[in-house]
Amino acid sequence: RGSATMENLISLVNKLQRACTALGDHGEESALPTLWDALPSIAVVGGQSSGKSSVLESVVGKDFLPRGSGIVTRRPLVLQLHRIDEGREYAEFMHLPKKKFTDFAAVRKEIADETDRETGRSRQISTVPIYLSIYSPNVVNLTLIDLPGLTKVAIGEIANLNVCMSFLVIILIVLIIVDGQSESIVQDIENMVQSYIEKPNCIILAISPANQDLATSDAIKISREVDPKGERTFGVLTKIDLMDKGTDAVEILEGKSYKLQFPWIGVVNRSQADINKNADMISARRREREYFSSTPEYQHLSHRMGSEHLGKVLSKHLEHVIKSRIPGLQSLISKSIIELETELSRLGKPVATDAGGKLYMTMEICRVFDGIFKEHLDGTRAGGDKI
Ligand code: GDP
Ligand code: NA
Ligand code: MG
Repeated sequence: RGSATMENLISLVNKLQRACTALGDHGEESALPTLWDALPSIAVVGGQSSGKSSVLESVVGKDFLPRGSGIVTRRPLVLQLHRIDEGREYAEFMHLPKKKFTDFAAVRKEIADETDRETGRSRQISTVPIYLSIYSPNVVNLTLIDLPGLTKVAIGEIANLNVCMSFLVIILIVLIIVDGQSESIVQDIENMVQSYIEKPNCIILAISPANQDLATSDAIKISREVDPKGERTFGVLTKIDLMDKGTDAVEILEGKSYKLQFPWIGVVNRSQADINKNADMISARRREREYFSSTPEYQHLSHRMGSEHLGKVLSKHLEHVIKSRIPGLQSLISKSIIELETELSRLGKPVATDAGGKLYMTMEICRVFDGIFKEHLDGTRAGGDKI
């Protein structure tokens, strides 16, 4: 029973976030941007090709993100998962409000196309997010943000390549410079990632590949900058299956080295070969489970490894955060209402003008949420009494 209430809370926050987004272009004058910042969300950060999109996909349990080598993710993707009780799962983009996608390959294509529409196929990155909602009986209510990878352009990669490939990379760098992106793209990505994760309500999924030295992990570096105590950072170790023979991640996963506030969670995502073979998510999860339970080094840790475990840990943490934030959100909403009322009376007859109409709508939404919050708070208290 308790967890049903919590799921409602998460769903409530999802709705609030959507309302804020829908009205977001009105932005500056209202308190909505502040409200948006106050709502919890989860962002994935890490180096290029560390497995960010793969981790997001496995938390969702669906294939729908463009993945691969290079800078595939070039715009932030704000992904809202909505649990529905029954019915077929579908996806909806905010920029295509009337269209229900049931084919997730088409979702992937639309993300790529919409990225190109904004960036003009120039391979540039853009800070303008794409908003995607997924409705499914198989997800927990969560808001996740997929961010472009932190890239050192090619420098990090040259080290891993043989001479012949380095030559190619040098050509690539030249091309990038010609394109006028070289410095700006690195800085742009870093600034964008920072702008999401510096918000105190952002839960950070710091993605680090196990086959690279953690000491050089971009994810750890940037998350330490914004969350030095690690109070909202979850370390996810990907590519455990790709570690060199004779090495393992046991020390890290047991919390003996690179200790974080929350224990590291190891995952095994699909390899590029699996993706090329169209290996489905369900068998990928099964293989991940088998990997941890049958590899002698990890057996004793297998109950707290893998994507499913990560999903559970995240939604539990989010519930905790939301519950602790409710009074704060509530007062923020009350404040919004007061500000909006003032703004409306300043404008005079509101509904006629576009700006007034929007303000009015915003206020109505805030009122509705205010009511829901009160209900939830009462519900929580009543629930507490019964225990
Ligand atoms: P992103 O750039 O950080 O979003 O990384 P992607 O999710 O696009 O993954 C980059 C590449 O690494 C893809 O080819 C994935 O198939 C592969 N990959 C990601 N995680 C793992 C893993 O745990 N094991 C293996 N073998 N490959 C992985
Ligand atoms: Na990638
Ligand atoms: Mg990606």
